[in-house]
Amino acid sequence: MVAHLLRRATEELHADGRAGFTLQFSFLAPTDRSRLVNILFCGDVVGRPGREAVKRHAPTLRRGLALDLIVVNAENAAAGRGLTERLCGEFYDAGVDVLTTGNHVWDQREIIPYIDRDPRVLRPANFPKGTPGAGWRLHPVNGRSVLVINLMGRLFMDALDDPFARLDELLGQFRLSIDAAAILVDFHAEASSEKMALGHFADGRVSAVLGSHCHVPTADNQIFPGGTAYQTDAGMCGDYDSVIGMQKRPAVLRFVTKMPGERPQVAEGEATLCGILLETDDNTGLASRIEPVRIGGRLTPCLPRR
Ligand SMILES: [Fe+2]
Ligand SMILES: [Fe+2]
Repeated sequence: MVAHLLRRATEELHADGRAGFTLQFSFLAPTDRSRLVNILFCGDVVGRPGREAVKRHAPTLRRGLALDLIVVNAENAAAGRGLTERLCGEFYDAGVDVLTTGNHVWDQREIIPYIDRDPRVLRPANFPKGTPGAGWRLHPVNGRSVLVINLMGRLFMDALDDPFARLDELLGQFRLSIDAAAILVDFHAEASSEKMALGHFADGRVSAVLGSHCHVPTADNQIFPGGTAYQTDAGMCGDYDSVIGMQKRPAVLRFVTKMPGERPQVAEGEATLCGILLETDDNTGLASRIEPVRIGGRLTPCLPRR
């Protein structure tokens, strides 16, 4: 029987009282924790507000949710466009373990020579062969390994290699619970149909297929019949008084006038950290729990209880 509620901790996320609320956590006993892998996946971080949200909340979440691994999609971290070496370091300093990306990965050109030197930054695995960087990372977690795979969709996006075939190849190389204690797929895609199809395609073979790119969290978190956790989109870490994280006025005008306007700028209000808590069973590598996480900013808060 799982022993829990050993200790409760109460922490004020916002020391200044702004939008403050109380987080209450309870902790699993070490013997029980050793049978689980707890992972937090955060959706696309948009600009400075998104980075600040991750930096502010990630350390608290790691302690309170007994996280073993934090994976963040950082494709919009640098003013909404790509990411840089310096920003990668800031994420690592905040306790982030692995960074995933998507169609904006190359927006800051300096990342191109850097990505081969940093195996913790991923670009989609179905980019053409020979593309710099890696599309997957076998990350050490408490004496075990968790495989993080980054894939990108093809519906309403650039034509890339087949993400389904690429995932099949990788799963031939890495078997769940044998070669990796858990396997997490960040599927960076536009179409909910393609995302859901990949989730079912992988059902029973990976711990979770979690979506990114749409910048809006979906409410379809579930565990599929084969044991794979799924959510169409994690949502962005960014200011939700915006159009997908960018200032709303020029974004609306672009739709109204159908003309190119001023260059889009990041919306600078307080961000909501949007993520997904995933718990996997060490015996099978499959999911035992998937819960949304939302903290700060404008969206209704949602914090899983331990
Ligand atoms: Fe994005
Ligand atoms: Fe994207």
